[in-house]
Amino acid sequence: AKRVGILTAGGDSPGLNAAIRGFGKTAIAHYGMELFGFRDGVTGLVENRYVELDGKALSGILTIGGTILGTSRDKVHRYVVDGEPQDMVPVVAENYRELGLDALIMLGGGGTAKNAMRLVEAGLNVIHLPKTIDNDIAETDTSFGFATATEIATDAVDRVHSTAHSHHRIILTEIMGHRAGWLTLAAGVAGGADIILIPEIPYTIESVAETIRRRTAHGSSFSVVAVAEGARDVEDTADYEAAQLLVKSAKTPESRRAAKKHLAHVEDAQREHTFKLARELEAATGLETRVTILGYVQRGGTPCAADRLLATRLGAAAADLVDRGEFGVMVAARGDDAVPVPLSDVAGKVKLVPPDHAWVRAARQVGTGLGD
Ligand code: F6P
Repeated sequence: AKRVGILTAGGDSPGLNAAIRGFGKTAIAHYGMELFGFRDGVTGLVENRYVELDGKALSGILTIGGTILGTSRDKVHRYVVDGEPQDMVPVVAENYRELGLDALIMLGGGGTAKNAMRLVEAGLNVIHLPKTIDNDIAETDTSFGFATATEIATDAVDRVHSTAHSHHRIILTEIMGHRAGWLTLAAGVAGGADIILIPEIPYTIESVAETIRRRTAHGSSFSVVAVAEGARDVEDTADYEAAQLLVKSAKTPESRRAAKKHLAHVEDAQREHTFKLARELEAATGLETRVTILGYVQRGGTPCAADRLLATRLGAAAADLVDRGEFGVMVAARGDDAVPVPLSDVAGKVKLVPPDHAWVRAARQVGTGLGD
């Protein structure tokens, strides 16, 4: 029987356990494989910490949030030991061979695709499944976690309307999504936000204030603004893009590391942008302005039906690929199909919202302000 390792890595997300179950039930019951769950993402791979998963272990986990295996954001090729990043690929390859594994399934986001790529280059049989609430993974329609986070964020946008119209306030709701605006755009449109600010469309305070003044003139004494955690105004965007350019154009590892440090510093300095925007809007419009940061609530709890279906489909498809011996791929959601795409096409890429995307057009058509 084939012996398969499975792990969850990166931020937790609704649907991870549904995907473990989708893969596990297909692999064990359908193909008679043996399944080993590594603890805490790449950390468990490096430290060789795993638990054998049988049918019983998979029962009842479909509906459970988070990941029964635990996760981490560790990188296999820059694994910090005593404060020093070390390349642990050889250690992982050794653990993989010692355990007699035929394949390794890695559930994760963009960062995990990079980890998976490095293990593929070391000769391991790896399959990656797209997990993230950010929906920012290239080459796949979507990722499990996104639909549930959209439900949660939409409910929050709905609910802050009560305070907004009761107190005639501007409520800024900050939504996750890392460097992409997908989650904010989806929840903003679904929740009927009056203004939606995403990283891909830099905003000006004038434009946002103008939208609010226009609403006031038409008798709406409140506004709900969906602000992506990665959104920024035009000035900050210029600084951010300049810092990104420094990283891309770095010639040596040292200058690249220094440039990445500078980029992190810029991102850190811009982290409070929603509170800065609140102060600016209150000054510009005279309306009381409040901020709600949705944070980790967006990653919590049971996955919605759409995510359970998606995670089950992709998990089962991954078991078929192990059986067929097809590796070095991510199982991408493409319409109703689950399609293997080369990991080299995914690793290191981020899928951002195209400014002319259908959801952006729909937002504009219903009169939503986008800050530009
Ligand atoms: O990638 C999912 C995500 O929730 C992002 O939306 C967010 O920026 C990030 O993880 C937060 O990372 P952490 O969980 O390490 O604080």
